[in-house]
Amino acid sequence: MPNRKIRVAFIGIGNSASTTLQGLFYYSSGRGKDGLWHPVVGGYGVGDVEVVAALDIDSRKVGKDLSEAIFSEPNIVEKRFEIPKTGVVVEKGLLEDELNPYLASALKVVKQDKNSIVEYLKKHRVDVVVNTISSGLDKSSIAYAEASCEAGASFVNTTPTSVATNPDIVESFKKRRVVVVGDDLMSQLGGTALHRGLVYFLKSRGIKPVRSYQLDVGGGLETLNTMYEDLRDFKKQVKTSSIAEEVNEGWEVVSGTTDYVDFLGNNRVTYLQFNATGFMGSSIIININLRSNDGMNAGNIILDLIRAVAKAREDGLSGNVNEISNYGFKKTLERKRIHEATMVFESKYCR
Ligand SMILES: NC(=O)c1ccc[n+]([C@@H]2O[C@H](COP(=O)([O-])OP(=O)(O)OC[C@H]3O[C@@H](n4cnc5c(N)ncnc54)[C@H](O)[C@@H]3O)[C@@H](O)[C@H]2O)c1
Repeated sequence: MPNRKIRVAFIGIGNSASTTLQGLFYYSSGRGKDGLWHPVVGGYGVGDVEVVAALDIDSRKVGKDLSEAIFSEPNIVEKRFEIPKTGVVVEKGLLEDELNPYLASALKVVKQDKNSIVEYLKKHRVDVVVNTISSGLDKSSIAYAEASCEAGASFVNTTPTSVATNPDIVESFKKRRVVVVGDDLMSQLGGTALHRGLVYFLKSRGIKPVRSYQLDVGGGLETLNTMYEDLRDFKKQVKTSSIAEEVNEGWEVVSGTTDYVDFLGNNRVTYLQFNATGFMGSSIIININLRSNDGMNAGNIILDLIRAVAKAREDGLSGNVNEISNYGFKKTLERKRIHEATMVFESKYCR
């Protein structure tokens, strides 16, 4: 095992960052092992991940120790247990976009400029930046990627903004000899992963998918944010084309967030319907109702990505590393089916 820790900065201390950090503490303090998908990635255990820096633009989180900020409003994640003080105080992030009305009404904004962020990342000698800010803030996510690159840190982009799929940004990470992966995290078992997995299974049984749809209902700030029509359409496009990677032509698919239901909290209910044909063209219909938790669904993947990115950089890789992006994200440079992407990732990083 490498004898050093991976120094990580989280940007956007929302629900997925909160759950991931709770998981990091849970697994590295030996409280349990259940549910940890890949105990070792790139030679690193979960306990080798050290969060040294954190940024947000909400005044209810800025200035607080991370252990307190992860449970501050408007986060609505389940608090599994008290986390001891981390000594990491959340600092002000940058904001280069105009907020849509949903985000504007939910956030109490404080911010600082990009140069200060570069200095902040350098000062904390950050190896990997994890960008978990609200979706739709394209200029801000790009500014964070640039700041991270300038500071010599690799970048994990969980948002749907084109960062690791933007050739100019990828080139600048290559030049700086750091890694960038993305875009738009694929949850461990969310609607997209289940949808893609089922298409693979049907085809492996000789069944032909004809059309399918996936409709999501959720609570939490990110779902509220997705009620903004332009963002909803964009996310629908990303999800739909991610699923389309599993099939060939002649199959219709629709996928997207349909509505916000406050009392669902950080949970998501996904309705899937498949129409397929079997023997002599006989009709097969499958209906599935999946209830999952957004934050919990992000934890394993984010912890895997941090460790894989650190390993890739140690191995001299830079720019977008397809084997990592294909495993962890919905919008990628390369087209790979979900089972192949997972197999390649595991054979490379989880041995
Ligand atoms: N399973 C998942 O959780 C999942 C899956 C796919 C994609 N994602 C992506 O991950 C991101 C985070 O999701 P979430 O559910 O944790 O969101 P969230 O709404 O719970 O949290 C977002 C956080 O980002 C902060 N923020 C907003 N703008 C910022 C800025 N400019 N600088 C710093 N902080 C900023 C907000 O204050 C908030 O704390 C989203 O972009 C989402 O699309 C998450």
